[in-house]
Amino acid sequence: MTQPFAPAAFPYARPRRLRSSPWVRRLVAETTLTPADLVWPLIVHDGAEDRVPVASMPGVFRLSPRAAAAAAVEARDLGIPAVALFPNVDAALKDAVGTGATDPDGLIPACIRAIKDAAPEIGVITDVALDCYTDHGHDGVVEDGRILNDASLERLAEQAFIHAHAGADVVAPSDMMDGRVQAIREALEANSFHDVLILSYAAKYASAFYGPYRDAVGSAKALTGDKKTYQMDYANSDEALREVAMDIAEGADAVMVKPGMLYLDIVQRVSETFKLPTFAYQVSGEYAMMRAAMANGWLEEDRAILESLHAFKRAGCAGVLTYFAPQAARLLGG
Ligand code: PBG
Repeated sequence: MTQPFAPAAFPYARPRRLRSSPWVRRLVAETTLTPADLVWPLIVHDGAEDRVPVASMPGVFRLSPRAAAAAAVEARDLGIPAVALFPNVDAALKDAVGTGATDPDGLIPACIRAIKDAAPEIGVITDVALDCYTDHGHDGVVEDGRILNDASLERLAEQAFIHAHAGADVVAPSDMMDGRVQAIREALEANSFHDVLILSYAAKYASAFYGPYRDAVGSAKALTGDKKTYQMDYANSDEALREVAMDIAEGADAVMVKPGMLYLDIVQRVSETFKLPTFAYQVSGEYAMMRAAMANGWLEEDRAILESLHAFKRAGCAGVLTYFAPQAARLLGG
């Protein structure tokens, strides 16, 4: 059988014709990248200073609630639709069950309110997980060195409720406990938060590339052991499809693959299989790796940023969480 798109032979077929000038390249481009594809992750803190640089992530700062509100205004003005919040809380406030995660007057609720005041048009996404609030650095409740699944669900559902109550538009569970999407959906429905979206980190891998983030949120020192009993094994791909199917069945509106650049094969399988908004997270280690090469002059900054982000669109992403968001939006004319 002949292929439907069997190409003609050279010299009749010359693929270079479609690349011969900027206008035709623009005209035939199969995918586009715009500021509307970007989500800006903001690291927030409860310290006194407005902006504290994160050493391992040049260009990234820990922000006070006030500075986070200013960043949200900047994001809005650049055409970035949403920001995602990640907390760095004082080590003295951390405990075994992550009490701070469900404090209605805690750091994240304060940031949500400040952002909603300053830039109500911006979507606010929050991270649902306990790791930033626990003294052991795990995403769930720990007993005798084991991360307890079902006992964690209650804490996570309460955390999501607290975020929704403070005005979050999207809750994004990144903890990888089984059944957390259902537990969160039930808590939201029971409290009439019918329109709060769940963006689940459905396929989240145990990765070395979260290193700089753990440093940024101060959970690196706290972490005892690793996260391999709940985050996925990077050897696996079919398993990601099962994780995504479960989260959709439990009530996820959109799903995420994480890390990003190293997992574009997973992004493509997920978006093609499920046809629902698929996001990916260009994580801290991917960002730091690129920044380091740029600082050395080994990568051309603007081109490398745009190429790396466009790759997510080509793979099938609806959007990408990236620390490059404001810089990329500027490059894209936002
Ligand atoms: C966990 C969480 C992590 C990131 C976001 N949420 C790290 C982890 O699982 O240890 C990583 C983000 C990044 O590396 O940029 N709640």
